[in-house]
Amino acid sequence: MDFKVVPSGFSDATTTVPGDKSISHRALMLGSIAQGRSAVSGFLNGADCLATAAAMRAMGVNIKQTGPTSLLIDGVGTRGLQAPSHDLDLGNSGTAMRLMAGLLAAQPFDSVLTGDASLTGRPMGRIITPLTSMGAAIESDCDGTPPLQIAGGVRLHGIHYDMPVASAQVKSAVLLAGLFADGETSVFEPAVTRDHTERMLRSMGATVSSKGGTVSLAGGQPLTGCAIQVPGDLSSATFIILGTLLSQDSEILIENVGVNPTRTGVLDIFQSMGADIRLENPRQFGDEPVADVRVRASRLQGIDVDPAVVSLAIDEFPALFVAAAAARGETRFSGLEELRVKESDRIAAMANGLRRLGIDIEETPDGALVRGGRFRSGEVRSFHDHRVAMSLTMAATIADGEVLIRGVDNVNTSFPGFEDCVSRLGADVRVA
Ligand code: S3P
Repeated sequence: MDFKVVPSGFSDATTTVPGDKSISHRALMLGSIAQGRSAVSGFLNGADCLATAAAMRAMGVNIKQTGPTSLLIDGVGTRGLQAPSHDLDLGNSGTAMRLMAGLLAAQPFDSVLTGDASLTGRPMGRIITPLTSMGAAIESDCDGTPPLQIAGGVRLHGIHYDMPVASAQVKSAVLLAGLFADGETSVFEPAVTRDHTERMLRSMGATVSSKGGTVSLAGGQPLTGCAIQVPGDLSSATFIILGTLLSQDSEILIENVGVNPTRTGVLDIFQSMGADIRLENPRQFGDEPVADVRVRASRLQGIDVDPAVVSLAIDEFPALFVAAAAARGETRFSGLEELRVKESDRIAAMANGLRRLGIDIEETPDGALVRGGRFRSGEVRSFHDHRVAMSLTMAATIADGEVLIRGVDNVNTSFPGFEDCVSRLGADVRVA
């Protein structure tokens, strides 16, 4: 599937975005191993989270979809999962695979985790190393990529793990395994990463401490099912924010967006480029902070992006590259080496796309130097990466002619209905 984008800007409007992907995955996994029922609203009905739901169902959990974005999960307790009768296919989702590996490392049965062409090329050594030192038995392909064969029936013990790379997926995998381990498990993160796992564990009654960059929990704690209201995904809202900033004269209000401070680096970076973005009506959905995001078209200015905020905006750099390409002057990105092992090599994919649209961009091993300019018409590739596809779509709305974005099927992993959403806001984006 491709998108054909005709130059067009957003008009003034109010919208929402689908539920947060990270929180939806965690609701499924933690709800499944809790005691009792969890009622989830605002669930992201995208391909990644549906893969997690299918995996939990394959292990005997009753998950009922009661509406377009609502679920009832009948938790089976920490000892209640059953052996799946087949390999668990987690599609395109690194979050599903890494968190699930932590959960399955402690089960009495064997399991196999696999995925699509992108996921089976992604590094899993980063979770195999700490889980193995807890006593897990996990085998991967010889280069550390999936499929993962996880042997059941082992006893895990708590460890302290100093993460070499700031990763919420690794932190969460170790914490999930730690729930089943003897003694205490702790993880030190070299930079702050999203803390949705810790927040949801606490909402389900677990004691989790976070102090000076170290998160710890005691093994053997039971979880209790609860109501989970999933906020709109700030990572998806980022594309709407970007489209609004780039447009001539538009003002968009995005309601019910998650603004957990471990995720809002993108807003800080946009604002330091001169973006007019305000948070209104701050409130809580359970343990997660939420606000309405008001954004107005703005003249952006190039900056040196502080590498210290990278982990707080890790998924938003494809969109930030587009903002940089539309800004006056130069923008320098560094500290982004993790982008090379996401759903695609996002530095290379964005450099390729922006160059095809006429932008002067120099790739570096850990970032890029982007010189602001004008987007011209042309044809670009998404490299089957949802965020690359959506970022280039937003660039295309202000190009000087039509742009074709090739291979956009994976947009459905995180933002089902993206093209309808942006079309309602005034962009001319069609499936070609
Ligand atoms: C995620 C963590 C991030 C992010 C991913 C979702 C999560 O990955 O890129 O899209 O839900 O924990 P890393 O923690 O590996 O950086």
